[in-house]
Amino acid sequence: MDRKKTVLISGGAGYIGSHTSVELIEAGYDVVIVDNFSNSEKGAVEGVVKITGREVPFELVDTCDKDALRRIFEKYEFDSVIHFAAYKAVGESMEDPLKYYSNNLVSFLNIVALMKEFKRPNILFSSSATVYGEADELPVTEETPRQPATSPYGNTKQMAEDILRDCCRSYVDIYGIALRYFNPIGAHPSAMIGELPRGIPNNLVPFVTQTAAGIRECLSVFGNDYDTPDGTCLRDYIDVVDLAKAHLAAVNRMVSDKMDGKYEIFNVGTGNPVSVLELLTTFEDVNNLKLPYKIVDRRPGDVTAVWADTAKANEVLGWKAERTLGETLKSAWEWEKRVRGL
Ligand code: UD1
Repeated sequence: MDRKKTVLISGGAGYIGSHTSVELIEAGYDVVIVDNFSNSEKGAVEGVVKITGREVPFELVDTCDKDALRRIFEKYEFDSVIHFAAYKAVGESMEDPLKYYSNNLVSFLNIVALMKEFKRPNILFSSSATVYGEADELPVTEETPRQPATSPYGNTKQMAEDILRDCCRSYVDIYGIALRYFNPIGAHPSAMIGELPRGIPNNLVPFVTQTAAGIRECLSVFGNDYDTPDGTCLRDYIDVVDLAKAHLAAVNRMVSDKMDGKYEIFNVGTGNPVSVLELLTTFEDVNNLKLPYKIVDRRPGDVTAVWADTAKANEVLGWKAERTLGETLKSAWEWEKRVRGL
């Protein structure tokens, strides 16, 4: 394996990790997937293998277990790490902050410490638009000030960004890119991999597809009295394959030593604000079905609107979101149907 062309992907069996693995492999990288299946399934790794037609080294390791992780660093030569492995449910993080602080921060610290020890220079970190909170200006650029985190989950993203910035500044051998994801949705066009939440989905699109599949009776739209054109919240929904391609562009940038400095941040979104009702209507139109929904109270903690200024990613990474909302929502439904055998 060419060290520069090999990427360790922690959380590679997860929703974004599996799609990113596919894009990297198809672009000629070798990937090593590390996952503990705490919120993912073996089937996702099998999906990556089926789509790419390649064997993918897989290691069942919890990234919080530093000794186990050290053995992975000893076993494989790689220059780059994409660190996805983390818990991501905002509500759960409010109920059990320690679970989030220990898992998300310990795994991150282990990864960076081992990178330093083994001189593996490049890390791509999964951050989130959640760091912007209720922003003062829209769309948000990478320079828009972050707001104090409103959940332990969001706080782990802010803290990890800061730790990464400091490590890049102080350690000559560490280079970092943080990608701030907006709202990832959709599935691979093959319908072999996609989002598979356990239990009742927190996020909008899995709830929509499960309602369409008859698993949930009715979708609750959280509030229609926001200060937006139709009263429902505005978000920037980014196709998961487009998002995966942003990771590929960022890895290419790192391995070709093109970074501007040692730590960079990029927004990864479409730049288009979409309301909850617009998303529902588009889902119904492209899939030719009707979705039962009702308007309910606002969900505590939701921001009115957030969408990305994508100029930096467009210009510097040479990356742009390509799939339309309709294509993405079609892929989400194709995936749900495949999973449910419909
Ligand atoms: C949430 C998190 C964010 C996290 C992201 C991915 C918050 C405040 N933010 O983003 O930090 O990175 O998930 O896990 O929790 N909606 C409904 N009905 C539903 C579900 C959602 O109307 O059943 C609405 C929400 O009010 C929101 C939009 O759909 O306006 C998107 O919600 P969701 O998919 O949960 O994402 P975010 O809340 O934007």
